[in-house]
Amino acid sequence: MIETVQNDLNYKKYVVNSRLQYFKPHSTKIEKTFAEEISSSLNSDSKYINPKFFYDKKGSELFEKICLLDEYYPTRAEISILKKMQSELPLFLDDYFRLVELGSGSAVKTRLILDLFDKLYDKIEYFPIDISEILTESSELLLKDYEKLSITGIIDTYEGGIEFVENFDEKRNLILFLGSSYGNFSPSAGKEFLEKINSTMKNNDLFLIGLDLVKDKDVLENAYNDSKGITARFNLNVLSRINDELDADFNLNNFVHSAVYNQKEQRIEMYLKSLVTQSVIISKSNLLLHLHRDELILTEYSYKYKLDQIKGLMKSAGFEIKRIWLDDKNLFSLTLASKK
Ligand code: AVJ
Repeated sequence: MIETVQNDLNYKKYVVNSRLQYFKPHSTKIEKTFAEEISSSLNSDSKYINPKFFYDKKGSELFEKICLLDEYYPTRAEISILKKMQSELPLFLDDYFRLVELGSGSAVKTRLILDLFDKLYDKIEYFPIDISEILTESSELLLKDYEKLSITGIIDTYEGGIEFVENFDEKRNLILFLGSSYGNFSPSAGKEFLEKINSTMKNNDLFLIGLDLVKDKDVLENAYNDSKGITARFNLNVLSRINDELDADFNLNNFVHSAVYNQKEQRIEMYLKSLVTQSVIISKSNLLLHLHRDELILTEYSYKYKLDQIKGLMKSAGFEIKRIWLDDKNLFSLTLASKK
């Protein structure tokens, strides 16, 4: 890998080959470390672990398995919408668009959009943005399958990455934010995030966001309490990660997975419940954690939306909705929007 200095002072450019390059910020901006975040989030009366920490290697593998489960409808529903859109999305892609994706995403979904771009354009530029370097492996596979494709990975936060892409040149961008990752945001943090995306976007850029819809409580709860127990393993895995990376001594047998739908707040709430009164040492966070029996550690909120809430949310963040697509069972939504 060749390293060169990039014109943009804040990023370093890594050229893998003529079709694959990366940009990474020089100095990782003043972000808290894993140890620090855990130290503060578990050191209070209402304990929580940020869901972004689920995705170490094992956690990412378990998430891929979740996406294949019968009970976990979002992935299948979203893929069916992306297929349905194949004939309609081109109507909005009048000019050349570059493809930008927040989170490197599942190969299947990205490929459906790449297939479309392959038909529309003589060259395809794909800019995945992800904080982790997992971009690398999936990129090699994509390049093999799409001859016209070149990839510029940006290893940064979503906000930082979008800003980088928008300053990169004058080309128009179709920005993908799939998988209802947005569901992890609280309403206030989510709105702030959308406003940030909106203010960074160029006037004729497009933004495609996947959001999960409010539905029957049983369907929702089954999706997060699958019969194979994969979601439980996914949830518990974050404790293994803390054990490994922060020298902690969580005994996983002392915790159970819990996921319930909070109808009023319109969100799935995922917890790790302590089965006993226990103390846990987290060395690198300098923390001796005390948990009482039945105490809950919040690990994830996954918000669900109604159609008119999606419209309101997008408008309030400065977007003009071009089109909303749903799957046949009205389980999931994809919204295409531009700047107002
Ligand atoms: C990746 C946040 C969209 O909320 O459905 C799946 C994560 N957690 N099963 C979701 C998740 C448990 C997922 N998101």
